[in-house]
Amino acid sequence: MPAKQSKSQKVALVTGAARGIGLATARLFIEEGWLVAALDRDADALQKAAADLGQAASAFVCDVSDPGAVDRTVADVLSRFGRIDALVNNAGVADFGPIEQTDFARWRRVMETNLDGVFLMSQAVTPALKDTKGALVNIASISGLRASTLRVAYGTSKAAVIQLTKQQAAELGEYGIRANCVCPGPVRTKLAMAVHTQDIIDAYHDAIPLNRYGTEREIAEVIVFLCSEKASYVTGQVIASDGGFESTGVGLPALRK
Ligand SMILES: NC(=O)c1ccc[n+]([C@@H]2O[C@H](COP(=O)([O-])OP(=O)(O)OC[C@H]3O[C@@H](n4cnc5c(N)ncnc54)[C@H](O)[C@@H]3O)[C@@H](O)[C@H]2O)c1
Repeated sequence: MPAKQSKSQKVALVTGAARGIGLATARLFIEEGWLVAALDRDADALQKAAADLGQAASAFVCDVSDPGAVDRTVADVLSRFGRIDALVNNAGVADFGPIEQTDFARWRRVMETNLDGVFLMSQAVTPALKDTKGALVNIASISGLRASTLRVAYGTSKAAVIQLTKQQAAELGEYGIRANCVCPGPVRTKLAMAVHTQDIIDAYHDAIPLNRYGTEREIAEVIVFLCSEKASYVTGQVIASDGGFESTGVGLPALRK
């Protein structure tokens, strides 16, 4: 049974909430007094996550790349909670491979979640966000800010999410809706560990001024801030939460003691 909802209590819809950055974000929203609609396509993991999150969360099984499922799920969220104040488009997949080995099926598998999913969820939730003058936060990646090997589909999908965020900010601002983008650096989640070889891990450590991976919680803090009243005049922004990766060039390891 979901918790009793007070009239002023805000509702965040978080996609990919069954684990990783999405789960940490759902947990932080709840700590800050929000209710959470936790959405994921992995029903088993979502059930466990929802049990862990407690009464302030409700679980919704949905694949964000399926337009019909997205519309039905957003209707279900609204009938459960009556409002949506923030949408966090966090669901994502990673598939790293050389350009010549990235066939159309691999390309589409990445694009359908990472880009189509953000577009579809945002379209479906926009009417509810108009009512609350709510906030959109899209999760891209440092791979959308700087090109690197093996990321032809992943990096391109994330660069497109950055541009989509700016389009949303430009058009939805007149309804009081804010749209911002968070670009995480590397975080040791299931997604990252499936594609980060030891070479990639070492390269990130070398290239990051803070010299370490981030945590799910550190990314969640930025996301929840952008959804909060504290960010009421912030829209159209792309914020890297990346230990300084995006801002630096070559030579860091040589400078370290
Ligand atoms: N972990 C990192 O190093 C890192 C770095 C930069 C960006 N990101 C981005 O952060 C976001 C979260 O990543 P994470 O590392 O927590 O990953 P994760 O794999 O731990 O969690 C992603 C969640 O999204 C869900 N999901 C995937 N496709 C879905 C779909 N089509 N519909 C509904 N749910 C779906 C998965 O079931 C999973 O629960 C992703 O968008 C990812 O690209 C992660």
